[in-house]
Amino acid sequence: MDSILMDDPWAVDPAGFADCHGSGARLRFLLNYAVLAPSGHNTQPWLFRLRGDDLLELRADRSRALPVVDPADRALTISCGAALANLRHAAAALGEALEVTVLPDPGDRDLLAAIRGLGPCPAAPASARLLRAITARRTTRFAFAPDPVPEPLRVEAIAAAEEAGAARLHWFDAPARRHALAALVAEGDRIQMADPAFRHELSAWMRSRRGAGRDGLSGAAFGMPDLFTFAAALVVRTFDMGAGQAARDQELAEGSPALAVLATPGDTPRDWIATGEALQRTLLAVTAGGFTASFLNQSIEVASLRPRLAAELGEPGVPQILLRIGRGPRPIAAVRRPVREVLREAEA
Ligand SMILES: Cc1cc2nc3c(=O)[nH]c(=O)nc-3n(C[C@H](O)[C@H](O)[C@H](O)COP(=O)(O)O)c2cc1C
Repeated sequence: MDSILMDDPWAVDPAGFADCHGSGARLRFLLNYAVLAPSGHNTQPWLFRLRGDDLLELRADRSRALPVVDPADRALTISCGAALANLRHAAAALGEALEVTVLPDPGDRDLLAAIRGLGPCPAAPASARLLRAITARRTTRFAFAPDPVPEPLRVEAIAAAEEAGAARLHWFDAPARRHALAALVAEGDRIQMADPAFRHELSAWMRSRRGAGRDGLSGAAFGMPDLFTFAAALVVRTFDMGAGQAARDQELAEGSPALAVLATPGDTPRDWIATGEALQRTLLAVTAGGFTASFLNQSIEVASLRPRLAAELGEPGVPQILLRIGRGPRPIAAVRRPVREVLREAEA
């Protein structure tokens, strides 16, 4: 098992798949890709259970919930949906047929998907570049260059998001429309940062990359030395810096060539899993096209602002994720827990 499961999943080498014999080994290998998905505050709120040799369960790990910013576990479920998309892409690229059932058991709300390994199949050539994008993707919180997102990439990102049919990606590149969204982001910052419970929860997930936990947010993700993370967490916990944060985020949003909102018809766990899959497919298309993205979800997380963001869509839809998209410097990869820490094995 140790040759299949990396200590650092970012170092996964697709050539290792050929050494995996049996469905169980192949599914374990594919999990190295699943855990590279983005997650709110880098909580990595997923658990996998392998039943027998070919049935893999994707389960919500609610011990990693963020009750203040994400009281319904909406972002938690979206993060798990993104992990599911990585699993599907990696399986398609490496040649493993999967049968996926989303929310298979109404009596078990933590069971988000049942994934059966059906054995080897021809690898899909188009998926190879998306497989490389899984390990190349980063959340980039720095300012983006003003160069516009090329039209073919915009079309590809929207098609990628909408592939499964449930979520829609709304694209905002006209300055006036970006301005309206940026103003909502700033308002969200001021409301969130004024709340000591929000700041306390955020600071609790700020930790050095060197920590044993292999999760959470390092200062490095925000352009500061990793060593400063502890001090930064103390500052976040203690002071309301909402005004400064709002000004910074507004500038980042207005200065990005495109903003994009993922929206769904409803607001149920099924919509959230679909959002996570659409999110990850969008991020992989953007990455493969040489661009990057980061999240500005404040106006979705603050309940009073969400209907105002919805009104900006110009058609019915529940906003789930707000991204800014552009070209930017590539940050160091955020830490990940190895698969062995998130995988349980059970009898069939
Ligand atoms: C559902 C979801 C919500 C997120 N919300 C935010 C956010 O509001 N602000 C932010 O800077 N990053 C946000 N992120 C990005 C995570 O912080 C990031 O994925 C995590 O730190 C791991 O880093 P990586 O994406 O570079 O691997 C979000 C990610 C997901 C999946």
